[in-house]
Amino acid sequence: MKPTTKLLLSALAFATGAALSAAAPAAENWENHCAKCHGADGKGQTKVGKKLQVKDYTDARVQAEMKDADLIKVTTDGVVDKAGKEKMKAYKDELSADEVKALVAHIRKFQA
Ligand code: HEC
Repeated sequence: MKPTTKLLLSALAFATGAALSAAAPAAENWENHCAKCHGADGKGQTKVGKKLQVKDYTDARVQAEMKDADLIKVTTDGVVDKAGKEKMKAYKDELSADEVKALVAHIRKFQA
């Protein structure tokens, strides 16, 4: 390999690494922020998930009823119940718009 090629490749590797560290991968964000309620497998069978009656994201019917725009909105702005009590907090301060979009794609992958 020519030295210039080698230099270019290492510069590229550096740039890619920097981009990755700015936004955490969706799987990592899911584990850190969402799995407590929605479950690592998206089924929502955790202690908190059962209590809050979260949906089973492996269920095709559940997936069919959910629109991408709603999933983005809920993750960004959170959910409150009819009495105005928070069921799920808003993540707009912790996650970028791209991270939220990646999480929605991650949720879609739970469907069996
Ligand atoms: C404190 C528990 C909790 C955590 C943590 C949590 N959620 Fe939720 N989530 C809920 C509840 C409760 C609902 C509303 C369920 C309902 O009303 O049917 C919900 C609803 C949603 C919805 C709307 C679709 C649906 O199931 O009704 C999406 C999308 C969603 N959550 C994504 C996420 C993502 C992404 C994260 C992590 C960034 C996350 N949630 C973290 C509890 C949680």
